[in-house]
This record gives sequence, structure tokens and C-alpha cells, in this order.
Amino acid sequence: MKLNAIERAAMNNPIRAVHQHHREAAWFRRLGGGDLRGQEVLEIGCGRGVGAEVILDRLHARRVTAFDLDDTMVELARKRLHDRPVTLSVGDACDIHQPASSHDTVVDFGIIHHVPHWQQAIAEIARVLRPGGLLLFEEVPRHLLDTWAFRTFTVHPRENRFEADEFAAELARHGLHGTARIEHHLGGLVFVGAAQKT
Ligand SMILES: C[S@@+](CC[C@H](N)C(=O)[O-])C[C@H]1O[C@@H](n2cnc3c(N)ncnc32)[C@H](O)[C@@H]1O
Repeated sequence: MKLNAIERAAMNNPIRAVHQHHREAAWFRRLGGGDLRGQEVLEIGCGRGVGAEVILDRLHARRVTAFDLDDTMVELARKRLHDRPVTLSVGDACDIHQPASSHDTVVDFGIIHHVPHWQQAIAEIARVLRPGGLLLFEEVPRHLLDTWAFRTFTVHPRENRFEADEFAAELARHGLHGTARIEHHLGGLVFVGAAQKT
């Protein structure tokens, strides 16, 4: 699902960009066992492109392929990343237009909780990761999406949401196993983790 105006303002602002570049990059570095030096990385739901910058500049990937369901977000990302080694497109995490086993790492900066049939997105991520490849994820749990504030001011699927343990169980069903424990950050607003494809 695309973001509404309130969510766009919450996502597309300099404070979040600084947070992604510093704190979120540090979480992923710790959980992923270092950095992604030399890797081909796929970012799902790239928004306006700050995540791809983080993957290149903080995690040291060689190249990023990134897509988003919302063409206006992809356009913002194109402007931000025009001179970087990034390939951008409009696309759906439930139908990833990439070959099987084509990526070393997939990064999810908070998009899977926007996908109505999120289990299909996990299946697609597992398909495009090479054996031994890594998924780095940051997600929002169901109990938060069920609060009055989230229900009133944001647009998310109402049914079929997940808590961190349910998310990890679905990853495991697709051969993606935790490399470290799931961490809860920002007072429980998000959980982050890493999982490796067997
Ligand atoms: C909370 S925003 C996060 C954006 C970006 N990753 C960031 O951290 O700034 C969620 C993004 O996921 C995108 N999105 C939602 N459903 C999607 C889907 N099925 N496939 C790809 N992108 C999707 C939205 O358009 C939005 O840009």
C-alpha cells in the first residue's frame, strides 16, 4: 500500500534521513556481521532513496537495485541518486522482477508491514537471495499498527499483520534463519534483525 500524506511527511524528512544514516546503519552493521563490502544489494520499497545511500555509504555495497510501488517515490529516489551505482524501478515486493538467487543481500527499511499479503513478499525475498545471502529487516509490529494513532493517521492493511516472532517464523518457513536475535528499538516502535538463507 502507498503512504498517505502524514506518513510521507514522517518518512521524507531530514531527521529520519540522519537517523537512517547513523542509528539504523549501525543496527544493520551489528546484526549483519559487519558491512556489505563489494556486494550486489536489493532494496525493497526504497521510498525516496535514503536507504540506498545508507547501503552504499555506510554498509559499503558495490551496487544497489531498488524499487518501490509508488512511482512518485521512485522519482524522488532518481533525483537523489542520479550519480550513484543504483538501478531504480517501480515494482511490487510480492512479484520481484529479479532472477532467482541473484542477490547477496536484501534490505527492508520498514516496508513489509505495508504489504497486505506479506508472506508472499517473504517468499519472493527468499527466491532472489543466493544461498548464504542475507536479509536485513526493520519492521513495525502488529500491536503498534493496532493503536488508535496508527489506525487514525496512517494507512496500513488492517488484517494479517505480524509480531516479531511471527515474522521470524515466516522467514524460517522460507529457509531464512536468524543470524542474531531480533532487537526492539525506539521504545518498541520497530524491530530489526538479520536472517541468512540456508
Ligand atoms: C514506511 S515507507 C519506507 C520507505 C523507505 N524504505 C524509507 O525507509 O524511507 C514504505 C514504502 O514501501 C512502499 N511499498 C508499500 N508496499 C509496497 C510493495 N508491495 N512493494 C514495494 N514497495 C512498497 C511504499 O510506497 C513506501 O515508499
